[in-house]
Amino acid sequence: MSSDPLLQPFQLRGLTLRNRLMSTAHEPAYTEDGMPKKRYRLYHAEKARGGIALTMIGGSSVVAPDSPQAFGNILLYKDECVPWLKELADDVHENGAAVMIQITHLGRRTSWSKDDWLPVIAPSSVREPAHRAFPKAMEDWDFARVIAAYADAAERVKAAGLDGLEFECYGHLIDQFWSPATNKRRDEYGGSLDNRLRFGLAVFEAARRRVGPDFLLGARLVCDEDWERGLSREEGLAIARRLTGSGLIDFLNVIRGHIDTEEALAHVIPGMGERSAPHLDFAGEVRAETRLPTFHAARIQDVATARHAIESGKLDMVGMTRAHLADPHIALKVAEGREAAIRPCVGMGYCIDSIYAGQAVCIHNAATGREETIPHIVPRSDGPKKKVVVVGAGPGGLEAARVAGERGHEVVVLEAAAKPGGQIVLAAALKRRREVMGIIDWRMRECERLGVAFRFNAFAEADDVRALEPDVIVIATGGAPNVEFLDSGAEFAVTSWDLLSGAARPSGNVIVYDDNGAHPGLTAAEFVAECGAKLEIVTPERILAPDVGGTSFPPYFRAFSRADAKVTLNLRLESIARRGNRVVGLFHDEYGRRRVEKEADMIVVEHGAVPIDDLYFELKPGSVNLGEVDYAALLKGRPQVLVNNASGAYRLFRIGDAVASRNIHAAVYDAIRLMKDI
Ligand SMILES: Cc1cc2nc3c(=O)[nH]c(=O)nc-3n(C[C@H](O)[C@H](O)[C@H](O)COP(=O)(O)O)c2cc1C
Ligand code: SF4
Repeated sequence: MSSDPLLQPFQLRGLTLRNRLMSTAHEPAYTEDGMPKKRYRLYHAEKARGGIALTMIGGSSVVAPDSPQAFGNILLYKDECVPWLKELADDVHENGAAVMIQITHLGRRTSWSKDDWLPVIAPSSVREPAHRAFPKAMEDWDFARVIAAYADAAERVKAAGLDGLEFECYGHLIDQFWSPATNKRRDEYGGSLDNRLRFGLAVFEAARRRVGPDFLLGARLVCDEDWERGLSREEGLAIARRLTGSGLIDFLNVIRGHIDTEEALAHVIPGMGERSAPHLDFAGEVRAETRLPTFHAARIQDVATARHAIESGKLDMVGMTRAHLADPHIALKVAEGREAAIRPCVGMGYCIDSIYAGQAVCIHNAATGREETIPHIVPRSDGPKKKVVVVGAGPGGLEAARVAGERGHEVVVLEAAAKPGGQIVLAAALKRRREVMGIIDWRMRECERLGVAFRFNAFAEADDVRALEPDVIVIATGGAPNVEFLDSGAEFAVTSWDLLSGAARPSGNVIVYDDNGAHPGLTAAEFVAECGAKLEIVTPERILAPDVGGTSFPPYFRAFSRADAKVTLNLRLESIARRGNRVVGLFHDEYGRRRVEKEADMIVVEHGAVPIDDLYFELKPGSVNLGEVDYAALLKGRPQVLVNNASGAYRLFRIGDAVASRNIHAAVYDAIRLMKDI
């Protein structure tokens, strides 16, 4: 048996967990009608197949209709969830892992204008900035009803055969009672710590009575809100001790911080550029104080840190939650001595940001949440070996090369630049975001293992590609910065690419004009701010960067705030002119129906990319499919077999920004779904 501390089993009362790796609760918004159906099940079963010991499903599964879904949560107040949960639990169990669920009443952390349109409740009528509902202060008849709803939900979980459950006690209703920031009551539920604990303890008691002494109950709790208005460390630790003493709770899952604003949440779930494992020592202190089995997750992204967390006795179970979204097979790879093959979580936060836009997707693993059609382990082809030529070594091109290599084909990548990465190299120019290069580095390592050949400094012409006699060609040439939208003066614009590549150095007064609304514009703006120039960001949108989600936004804003940057909304750039050695932007204010001039030393423009597609159009007539993608087959996960030109010599695909300006996820998703069946 392995001596790796991470691979040692852990005994949680009657439950044997096969190792120390877990995925903590996170609602991926994969529910259908509020139920964890096939997609949800396959997502968790994949982690079980990948060797994880415990998967905590159903982030914030809601126990009552006046806690409507904030982001696709499981509706645990409906009996119909039981068979779905049972099917999921059976699948996870068959694959050797344990499964629990996180249950909650969101309190004020949701919206009243959803599902049943019931008023949102909280201990007191204090609005949560993040979800923006004005809650009703709970009245006498709310208490018994909500406590009973928790117990009913616990009973459903037990009936479905899960191994246990965890109460969500940070930022949600239970903690809203604990925290002085949200509990302003003057009755027996407010004031002293005893009073503030009354509601939560009543919930735990009711649930324990309902499920009996052997069913595992845990609390994911904040033991320090790290906030002058909130729960202090002393009170937090006192609560942890009280729960331990109550005998109602079998494990703790430790949180530090508060989550009522996007900035605060970004410290609880730290992303790219933040310290590794920032709250691990604190979790260890809670474990030492309480001696209860302790779980914890917060940016423990790599196996070495996870191993340290267990070996040093700080944790009993280590949460690597986003890390498993990026690679659900971590435990297996550790056990097989293949740690270097683990696809890294680069902390981009796209997964959590995207739950508010629909569903969690990992920026560079397109199989996550799509297990039904996209495999995490690409099988080898049993057909003839093909020659695949990929043009472009950005994320899309490398993903195409990797997947074609996994299929067992001969793969050649032609890249015009001296090194791989494409636009990711630009994103990584900002020191805080350099971890994004992990997306490229991992693919280069995998391509090397798979024997993919690379030719750098190779600007591919159509004849060069044809000379390689390919069976399949993938055009992943990306795009070029778009300044075509300007009526005039494009030659005076500095593109965000010029800036991030080092071709232009910002100084004096710099305007960053962002008409993309995503990371590239904010990255360029932060780069300007960090260089010490006086920054103004101008956008035609009504909010800044609408496509950058809540957990990714804060570090940018911190930088803009440090630089005292100005943000101007609702102005559309039409042209740029030179005035002496400065430049003048002419903007249109659509609401004011007027033109506005702004003078600066530099105007940086971010307006997405124009596809570099000449090569594709040159090669198109010689292809079997004439470049066409059969969308019906693509969406069903079936192979591409269209024949539009029987005399064609190769199949031709175009992916990523070479098609249209999009993002990393779009590029890798294009690549894997076209290449997985070749
Ligand atoms: C998509 C997503 C949804 C999440 N939803 C919840 C949730 O509902 N309840 C919860 O306690 N934590 C939630 N979290 C936080 C995770 O459980 C975990 O604490 C966080 O991701 C930090 O751990 P990591 O660095 O290992 O990812 C969510 C995280 C993600 C990525
Ligand atoms: S989107 Fe980013 S943070 Fe989320 S799992 Fe993927 S790499 Fe990690």
